[in-house]
This record gives sequence, C-alpha cells and structure tokens, in this order.
Amino acid sequence: MSSDTLRHPTVPVVHRVDARSIGDAAADIVIDTIQATPTPVIGVATGSSPSPLYSALSARTSDFSAVTWFALDEYIGLPAHHPQSYAEVLRREIIEPLGLDPATVHLPNPQVNDLDQSAAAYEGLIASAGGIDLQILGIGRNGHLAFNEPGAPLNSRTRVEQLTEDTRRANQRFFDSLADVPTHCLTQGLGTILEARHLLLIAQGSEKAEALYNALTGPVTASCPASVLQLHERVTVLVDDSAGALLV
Ligand code: GLP
Repeated sequence: MSSDTLRHPTVPVVHRVDARSIGDAAADIVIDTIQATPTPVIGVATGSSPSPLYSALSARTSDFSAVTWFALDEYIGLPAHHPQSYAEVLRREIIEPLGLDPATVHLPNPQVNDLDQSAAAYEGLIASAGGIDLQILGIGRNGHLAFNEPGAPLNSRTRVEQLTEDTRRANQRFFDSLADVPTHCLTQGLGTILEARHLLLIAQGSEKAEALYNALTGPVTASCPASVLQLHERVTVLVDDSAGALLV
C-alpha cells in the first residue's frame, strides 16, 4: 500500500492514500480477507465513499462465490425497487458488477409491518452466518456510522432510526427533493458494527475531515457515533489528503 501510516495513540490505524488509489487500497484489504477465510462474510456500506472500492473490486479476477454480504442499513418508506433503495444501490454497485448471486447479499427488510421483528431477524441472520469478518464503513459529516445518528447508544443493535435533518440534506443529492428523502431507516447498531472482526473506514473529501478528526481523536461519545471506532481492536482507516487534513 503506497501510503503514510499514522498511528494514533488509540487503536485505529490510519493510511493516507492518494485519492485515485483509495479504491485499490480498500480492494486489497477485501481480497485479503476473502482469501484468508473459507466462508468470508463482508459487510458493505452504501453512499459515495465505498464506490471506488466497488469499482476496483469489479476490475479484479477474484472468486466471490463463497462470500456472504450484509448491508449496513436500508431506508424505510421507499417503494420496493426504488432506485435509491440500498437494495437497488447494491444491485448496481456490487451484485451486477461482481457477478454475485443476489441471494448472498442481505439487507434489513423494510417492506414488512413489523420492523422491530425485521431488525431482530437481521441480527439473527448475521449471527447465523458466523458474524462479519470485514465491515466496510463510511462516515457521515455529522459523525454518523451506518445510520446511527448522534445520540445513538454505543451498544445499540439493528433497529429503526430516525434520520437527522443534516443526514437527509446530505443524501438529498440522490433524490429529486428533500421531501423525497426518507425520514426513517433500519440500521445496524453501533454494537452490531463493533462485533465485526475488522472495520475498514473509507473517507474522502474535506467535508469529512472534522467528523473523522472527532471520531478518531476526540472522546468516545454518543454525540459522535463514529468515535466507537476507538473501542475496536482492529480498525483500518483509509483517507485521502482532504479527509485526513486534521489528522497529523
Ligand atoms: C449514508 C449511509 C452511510 C454512509 C454515510 C456517508 O447516509 N447510510 O452508510 O457511510 O451516509 O455517505 P457518503 O459516503 O455518501 O458520504
């Protein structure tokens, strides 16, 4: 990996990577995990941050047939097959380009009456797969992780979460208007995420710099959900120069 390696006094290992190489750097970590594990389980994020990773993976010749995939989160309230549902995003970003069997890619199911039961079932599915070997993460500019907004309990599990105005505005770019952005979602909890054996956070762009700085160097606090990264023993953070600008 062509990068400087910065070691913070707490656990996360930060690699500063040229923006054009960040997808390949992340793909190397995913492929290493897949090759090291007979039945690999990979947690996938949506949003812009992991897109270069998914592009880089699609250029590799790796065999993904033994992999089980779990999404971090899904909107509530979109029609099934809405192009911005995360099920559809993952179909476009990983299922089709990597030639995956759709049955191996799991998301929390919002198309049910009992959302609490759906959340519990998702936790059960992750557990029955043996837990997540590598969880890919982005970070929200307010420090959110998956859709765990500021205030989310550090030990939270998969559940219904209300999106903040800031997150809805950030995601408005994927929709025609703010009114079209869902107000609620199903998200893995912070406690769920912390159970993954390796966390890989990808952050690009100056708008992530402050959140990333707070998450990695500030107090571990529910007001910055991504600060839970400091509680995990194996965290890799890939940043470009802009996102890592405050991490000296
Ligand atoms: C989204 C997702 C997160 C993502 C984050 C950052 O709303 N639910 O999983 O990591 O916000 O998104 P982006 O990578 O587009 O900046």
